[in-house]
Amino acid sequence: MQIKVPRGTYDILPPQSSKWHYLEKILRETAEVFGYREIRTPIFEHTELFERGVGESTDIVSKEMYTFADKSERSLTLRPEGTASCARALIEHSAYSGLLPVKWYYMGPMFRYDRPETGRYRQFHQFGVEAFGSLSPYMDAEVIILLVEILHRLGLKDYELHLNSVGCPKCRRAYREKLISHIKPVKDLLCPDCQGRYEKNPLRVLDCKNEACHAAIKGYPVLYDSLCDECREHYAEVRKALSDNQVSYIHDDNLVRGLDYYTNTAFEVHIPGIGAQSAVGGGGRYNGLVKACGGPDIGGVGFALGMERLLLALAEGEEEKAGIVDVFVAVMDRQYEDIGVKILTDLRRAGIKADKDYTGKSPKGQMKHADKLGVKMAILLGEDEVKNSFVTVRDMISKEQYQVGHRELIDFIKRHIKA
Ligand code: HAM
Repeated sequence: MQIKVPRGTYDILPPQSSKWHYLEKILRETAEVFGYREIRTPIFEHTELFERGVGESTDIVSKEMYTFADKSERSLTLRPEGTASCARALIEHSAYSGLLPVKWYYMGPMFRYDRPETGRYRQFHQFGVEAFGSLSPYMDAEVIILLVEILHRLGLKDYELHLNSVGCPKCRRAYREKLISHIKPVKDLLCPDCQGRYEKNPLRVLDCKNEACHAAIKGYPVLYDSLCDECREHYAEVRKALSDNQVSYIHDDNLVRGLDYYTNTAFEVHIPGIGAQSAVGGGGRYNGLVKACGGPDIGGVGFALGMERLLLALAEGEEEKAGIVDVFVAVMDRQYEDIGVKILTDLRRAGIKADKDYTGKSPKGQMKHADKLGVKMAILLGEDEVKNSFVTVRDMISKEQYQVGHRELIDFIKRHIKA
């Protein structure tokens, strides 16, 4: 039987991998413009980190984790997200005792066991940023402005930024009570999941994807009305900073996010055109997370973007216009192959992207190969050329040909590529 990739995973082959390079480049450059530096954490962590960090009642922890016991019976989990790992690393390396805020970015694979569909995979990739050690609303605004700048640089205009405040534990406690009393009389109409969790974590009911649950709780009290003065003020300042910096957003009372660590600002970005899985990114502030992971009581704020979803949203083909290599060395007579290889090596050592055939193609076949690679120039090497110590350079666009001596070749090619 043929072995295939596991369900919900996929291979990235060229030319698709070039799109990934393009995306990764923009993400890195933009994060660095904003003063964020890269952190790389392991792909797996102790299961407890996510149970404590992300929250045991969340879908991610209760249903979607790839958890396994290693040979020493330790419970390990393939990371479902990056924020808890960053908090762990911050504590483990006492990074909080240096210059604050600590501003990190990361990108790489994450793992969630969910039903695969377009835009939803079991191994997917996130780019994320986390800023630890500031409670300022301008810090929240900075990460949101960074997110929007990324979309702008990618040429993605048709997005919606949804914003809400989920308050602090104090105002959330009051809200919980209100919500529970609203849900209690209609609890039998809820899906089995919500019936089980509404008393423990009623906010999960708001986040349920089941239409019947939404219908049952219609008219529920909104969190915004329960915010304490401090949380209300923080939210107002974030909103003002966004408006001052021309970032448009939609205040969304229904936005509660599916991870437990959020406090105050929460946001999500949707691109409606990419299908049912339209959330390209989300994030928010998480003031209790570092403490819950065993560190000092410092706040943080960040977001993560789903890289597959960004790629779905990007216009087809734009960044693929460049050829795979610039120059092709075509050997017209096999006996000169050794000279062809030497020329190729010289070109590459000079930093010129170049290639040749290795499958014994005819001269005509080699020129077809050169065309398919999208080269700008071909170097032709036949008997005449070798006997008279030159090469023929063919401009593949204008079809003009030049006779160039070996010594001048590199300079000639470099000049020609730039022109
Ligand atoms: P999240 O909303 O769970 O947040 O994920 C962020 C983004 O990852 C989503 O908006 C989506 O684009 C992408 N994503 C999530 N699951 C999948 C999947 N199964 N397949 C494809 N893409 C997916 C977090 O993970 C938080 N750690 C974000 C954060 C950082 N909050 C603060 N700092």
